[in-house]
Amino acid sequence: MQARNVRSFTTASADAVIVGMYPGRRPAAGTDAILKAIGRWAHSALEKAGFDGDAGQTATLPNPTGSGPAQVVIVGLGSDLDLEGLRAAAGAGKRAAPKARVVATTLHRVDLDGASGAVLEGIALADYVFETYKSKAEARAALEIELIGGPKDLPTIAENAAAVVSMVCFARDLVNEPPKTQAPAALAERVGSVAARAGIAYEIWSGDELVDHGMTGLLAVGGGSERVPAMMRLEYTPRRAKAHLVLIGKGIVFDSGGLNIKSSEFMATMKSDMAGAAAVAAAVVAIARLGVKTKVTAYLALAENLLGGGAQRPSDVITYRNGTTVEVGNTDAEGRLVMADALCLASETECDLIVDVATLTGATKVALGPKIAGIYARDDDLAHRVQHAADSAGERAWTLPMPADYRKWNESSVADVKNTFGIRYGGGIGAALFLEEFVKDKPWVHIDIAGPAYVEDTEHYILKGGTGYGVRTLVELASSMAG
Ligand code: BES
Ligand code: MN
Ligand code: ZN
Repeated sequence: MQARNVRSFTTASADAVIVGMYPGRRPAAGTDAILKAIGRWAHSALEKAGFDGDAGQTATLPNPTGSGPAQVVIVGLGSDLDLEGLRAAAGAGKRAAPKARVVATTLHRVDLDGASGAVLEGIALADYVFETYKSKAEARAALEIELIGGPKDLPTIAENAAAVVSMVCFARDLVNEPPKTQAPAALAERVGSVAARAGIAYEIWSGDELVDHGMTGLLAVGGGSERVPAMMRLEYTPRRAKAHLVLIGKGIVFDSGGLNIKSSEFMATMKSDMAGAAAVAAAVVAIARLGVKTKVTAYLALAENLLGGGAQRPSDVITYRNGTTVEVGNTDAEGRLVMADALCLASETECDLIVDVATLTGATKVALGPKIAGIYARDDDLAHRVQHAADSAGERAWTLPMPADYRKWNESSVADVKNTFGIRYGGGIGAALFLEEFVKDKPWVHIDIAGPAYVEDTEHYILKGGTGYGVRTLVELASSMAG
């Protein structure tokens, strides 16, 4: 994505221009000139098309003047526009002109802090395609965005937006990639090559190194696959860091459920069970590219949950690095088993905050639906910090409770805890309480992204498939910690 300022509608060299309207077809700032140029009939044409200016509406009109972009896309801004609404409107506008490689817009000329960045993000994120396996895919020119009457500091804004967008798209690519080509080691190497280019140090443990470091959860979960598990550690160390953030991502490259095998319906989307690792990896690279003054250590817990001869069994017991023993009640509750290894490591680190991101429970998805992540923390202030970062970044999340009296449902009769929750309800909370066993009183927040990591429907800039959810929240969080 590239962005530049142009003075007016007529100096735009774009294929399409995206402009906004409020309900009642009231033109947004900077839109009048364009509507005037394309003629009075615009309003009646919009009326006939049923376009009023509601949030999410789009209409496309031809530009008959012979100067400026050929297509005019009008997007509804609704009656209570905020930054995320603007990002969404920009995305909807781009999707109404899918072929356009140069897009002009006036959408940034609303009275909202950060409008230009949000517009660039919305347009560029909506332009994402995953065509690796489309035999007839055509090469596409890079996307160029022209802001009509844009801000003076556009170069900086555009550079930051491009860093975030490209890494959200990297996370999407990792999630959309078929599992066949993305064994734990392959995923780690792919992340490593991108991270190295951003000056990030990393190491990958597999085989005996996992044994030596006591990564028993990964070894247990990964035992059923010929493609061995791995723990990847990334480290971004800026000069004069203001804070230290530790991130952990769940990287189950495919979750069949293991011996407690999933039904076809639930297995279908389980290549996305590494979306937490993808979000964390992409976020560290974005944070490094942005030069954020927060040191970040990241752990990606990578394994494949299959049911080969080495698979773990329900009723097996795992002894962790920190001494905690876990009874395997269900091999499909594998996420918390691999996250526990990483949480042990994180808890041994001197840091200001540990945040883990995982497609952990169907229960959280049931509670919040497909668009909203669940935030869990023992400490309300820490939960608020992450909630605030998500809100600021425009990623939808909701804080859920961790009642201490629910802990008893994680008890086991043979080990310290069990990986299944003893009652039918509140499974997202149960998983969060399980994770807490491995962090004790360290500053820690858990984000369950089972819903928003991978979606069935396209909506504005959020496209069907891997969404890259979490990258923006983590970047925002690291930035806010740097002060
Ligand atoms: N990866 C799944 C959770 C999931 C479900 C993610 C739907 C995305 C969409 C996780 O490993 C899992 O299978 N969890 C089980 C736990 C249960 C067996 C205790 C679940 O939530 O059903
Ligand atoms: Mn599972
Ligand atoms: Zn899983």
